[in-house]
Amino acid sequence: MPGVTGDHYFTAEPGTAARPREVEFTVAGRDYTLTSAGGVFSAARLDPGTAVLLRKADLPAPDAAGDLLDLGCGFGPIACVLAGSAPAATVWAVDVNERARALAAANAERVGAADRVWVAAPDDVPADVTFAQLWSNPPIRIGKEGLHELLLRWLPRLAPDGVAWLVVARHLGGDSLHRWLTEQGWQVGRHASQKGYRVLRVTR
Ligand SMILES: C[S@@+](CC[C@H](N)C(=O)[O-])C[C@H]1O[C@@H](n2cnc3c(N)ncnc32)[C@H](O)[C@@H]1O
Repeated sequence: MPGVTGDHYFTAEPGTAARPREVEFTVAGRDYTLTSAGGVFSAARLDPGTAVLLRKADLPAPDAAGDLLDLGCGFGPIACVLAGSAPAATVWAVDVNERARALAAANAERVGAADRVWVAAPDDVPADVTFAQLWSNPPIRIGKEGLHELLLRWLPRLAPDGVAWLVVARHLGGDSLHRWLTEQGWQVGRHASQKGYRVLRVTR
C-alpha cells in the first residue's frame, strides 16, 4: 500500500518523509502556530485529546516556577503552551522520537521560549530534576505494559506537592488506567470528561 511503512509515531528515527505542516490552535486566548511533520504523532493538526487536555486541565499560573514535564512531547504543543502560560518555569519536553524532539525544539524557538524549554531524550533528563507538574497525552499504542512502565518511571519524579495531568481516550483504556493508578497508590481524580477523553489529575 502506498505511504504505509513500518513506522509508528514512537519510532526513534522515523523513515517516512518529514513533509512539514503548520498547525494552528488557540489555548487560553493565546494563538500558537507550530510545525508538525510526518513520522510524528498528529502530523497535521492538534490532536483532539491534547486539545481537551489543554482546554480542561489547570494550566500553570503565570508565576509558576520550577520544572514542568511534557512527557511524550511529540512536536511540542503541550510544552509550548506550558512555556507560554508560565514564563518563569523551565519546561522539559521529552520524547523517544528524534524527529519529534527536533520539531519540539524548533517550535519552542518559534514561540520565543528556546531558552527555557529543554528538549531531551528520556535518558538525558538529569536524575536529580523533580517536576512541579507532569503533563502527558501518553503513548497508549506502546501497549499497556509499556505505558505502565513509562508512568512508573516518571510519576515518582513528581515533587511532593506536584500534580500530573493525563489525557486518555475512554475507548483506549482511560478508565482502566485510572483504576490502575489508584491501585499503585496515587490519588486520581477524573477532572474532566469531554468528547470521549478523560482528563485525569494525579497527585501523591
Ligand atoms: C500520544 S503522543 C502525544 C504527542 C504530543 N504530546 C501531542 O500532544 O501531540 C505520545 C508521544 O509519546 C512518545 N513516546 C513513546 N514512548 C515514549 C517513551 N518511552 N518515553 C517518552 N516518550 C515516548 C511518542 O513518540 C509520542 O510522541
